[in-house]
Amino acid sequence: VRKGWAGVAALALGVALAGCGASSSAPSGASSTGGGTNNNSQVYVVGTDAAYAPFESVNPQTNQIEGFDIDLLNAVAKAAGFQVKFENTPWKGIFQALSIGQRDILISAITITDERKQSMDFSNPYFQAQQMIVVPPGSPIRTLQDLKGKKVGVQIGTTGDEIVTDFLGKTDPNIKRYDTTPLALEDLRNKAVDAVVADNGVVLDYIRQNSSKGFEHYTDPKFPKEYYGIAVKKGNTALLEKINEGLAKVKSDGTYDTIYKKYFGSAPPAE
Ligand code: ARG
Repeated sequence: VRKGWAGVAALALGVALAGCGASSSAPSGASSTGGGTNNNSQVYVVGTDAAYAPFESVNPQTNQIEGFDIDLLNAVAKAAGFQVKFENTPWKGIFQALSIGQRDILISAITITDERKQSMDFSNPYFQAQQMIVVPPGSPIRTLQDLKGKKVGVQIGTTGDEIVTDFLGKTDPNIKRYDTTPLALEDLRNKAVDAVVADNGVVLDYIRQNSSKGFEHYTDPKFPKEYYGIAVKKGNTALLEKINEGLAKVKSDGTYDTIYKKYFGSAPPAE
């Protein structure tokens, strides 16, 4: 099934999904979730693997990290009355950085999975995603099944890696694992791999930016829906509550839609 950009827009939303039942009306100016050792002047350090446009990437002109996730978390923080500072954090060590306290929050297009939930806590979902198979023009590959015996590129430790590894087997020597998704896509361009499996939003953005390459993209019915969440250290309930409170606010006051439109060109589809 070939999907257009509109396809991802349509996919993207469970948007309203997250905690929209909660319309909290805190007294003005108060950010009173309190608790722990955190106070209102604390700046939370946020880890993000900024090689993942349009969610997070480094602007080569300004050297600043920017993207949908960045705008969203800034808005969430503002709405809930806390401060954040983003640190570019390689995907490979990102979960460990959270668990050892080098980062307080992770936002990095992270899919909420049962396995990850055992070692960290996630906010309500803020974005719906799905894996996509990317191939060069003219490739016969369309489905997960077609990947058998082919060289497949994935970003190491992502849900794309998990799906491909589960299907082809842990020991399949044809799976090539990259530190970043753009590196995998570059190798697809160089014909070092036959296909790449990665998140739809990132794939579609890459194809838009490199339209001349004529990459094609497909989804497989076996790919489950994925939901991105903002992660905190396991047990950091006070911070998680603030994040969920902020998320609910930016969804109900239209800020989420504005940010969505900025990066995906349309309003998110209604729930
Ligand atoms: N959603 C996928 C996962 O959670 C890929 C996320 C990769 N994010 C990034 N910023 N590199 O595994």
